[in-house]
Amino acid sequence: MPAPKTFHVKSFGCQMNVYDGERMAELMTADGLVAADAGDADLVVLNTCHIREKATEKVYSDIGRIRKVARAQGRAPMIAVAGCVAQAEGPEIVARAKVDVVVGPQAYHNLPALVRQAAAGEHSIDTDLLALAKFAKLPRRRRVGPSAFLTVQEGCDKFCTYCVVPYTRGAEISRPFAAIVDEAKALVDAGAREITLLGQNVNAWESDGHGLHDLIRALDRIPGLARLRYTTSHPNDMSQGLIDAHRDVETLMPFLHLPVQAGSDRVLRAMNRSHTRDSYLRLLDRIRAARPDIALSGDFIIGFPGETEAEFAETLGLVDAVGYAQAFSFKYSPRPGTPAATMADQVAPEAMDDRLQRLQAALNRDQQAFNTASVGRTCPILIERQGKLPGQMLGKSPWLQSVHLTTAATIGDLVDVDLIRADPNSLAGVERVRVAA
Ligand code: SAH
Ligand code: SF4
Ligand code: F3S
Repeated sequence: MPAPKTFHVKSFGCQMNVYDGERMAELMTADGLVAADAGDADLVVLNTCHIREKATEKVYSDIGRIRKVARAQGRAPMIAVAGCVAQAEGPEIVARAKVDVVVGPQAYHNLPALVRQAAAGEHSIDTDLLALAKFAKLPRRRRVGPSAFLTVQEGCDKFCTYCVVPYTRGAEISRPFAAIVDEAKALVDAGAREITLLGQNVNAWESDGHGLHDLIRALDRIPGLARLRYTTSHPNDMSQGLIDAHRDVETLMPFLHLPVQAGSDRVLRAMNRSHTRDSYLRLLDRIRAARPDIALSGDFIIGFPGETEAEFAETLGLVDAVGYAQAFSFKYSPRPGTPAATMADQVAPEAMDDRLQRLQAALNRDQQAFNTASVGRTCPILIERQGKLPGQMLGKSPWLQSVHLTTAATIGDLVDVDLIRADPNSLAGVERVRVAA
């Protein structure tokens, strides 16, 4: 197989995979390869997610499709599987799909070398979990959009009984303070106005006795950086310092993704979540006291083994009590190797469908209510891209709502906007007329 000259990276799953995908693209570019569309590339990197069964199976169907399309054009691209499926399944992927390269989420700095090895005719696999080793080997950030991701923490020690992340991403580890500040400055130099700090448990970040709030306060001082966000947080790592930062730090946006998963204490215990319904609700009270306009977001799993209708009703009740601005909800998916996969009383598919539908109806209702309540507000919008209509631009509100407006402003600008209408998936805005002082 000749060494590839062009590449395409396709990322699935969470924002940390998006970040990793960007870094892989930067690595391949630094190695002399040129980015191309998936249908033309000599090397296709599938940066995969293992969180639910469907996500995992998608990898195999994608590989089949890529090969089929390429074969019809007389091509046979090199295929590399990266990300969490690579970590979880390693050599099995080579056995099942005959791919050329398998590289885990902590080893992708070796991707160029693995690709060369594969071009020389050997299947190459690297799923070492050497935490943080990759960061020192990645090129400096050069060009990014106005809203950029920055991974500060990796891995998870929580071992929720349904979840593969502790196995695919390894133990909790924090990048050092100085390395993060350096990368944040490089991102701002490369065009970022907003940075979202990422970690599987981002609020567990710590370095030399500093917590995430200290990092946020340091990043707040970088000239040109207008907005900070962080995700995903665990309720038990929400320190008072971080709550206070939501009150004090102007660049820290009033939005918090704080997954709860379920509203029943029995289910939460079986999930090994180590918080209760009540401790979660009291935590939200403290956060809202510090930052009354904060928009809350969450993740929910319905149909965890043994979940009864009454326990599911407790999840609906919790949703009613919180009023989420947005949320993600999933059917429980048994994952090989996790304790919940072999628990008794797996919930029947019909009950799963019914509960998911009812939960999503409640979450959609609350999202609509939140967006409708925003109409009449004036707020800064960070312009992120062009819309479909001429002169239309799309951006985000401080509360992470998508807003469309007609403006002469360009990508990366912050404009003051009156929110005038809530559409199903976004808000319409009108730019404030700028009055000269
Ligand atoms: N580290 C983050 C994200 C983990 S994965 C966190 O702890 O919040 C994102 C979401 O996927 C989880 O919050 C959970 O709601 C969902 N999830 C994880 N494992 C799952 C499984 N086996 N079945 C269905 N949903 C799952
Ligand atoms: Fe998975 Fe739980 Fe860790 Fe989140 S906290 S990554 S759900 S084990
Ligand atoms: Fe998926 Fe791995 Fe992220 S399993 S959700 S890509 S950490």
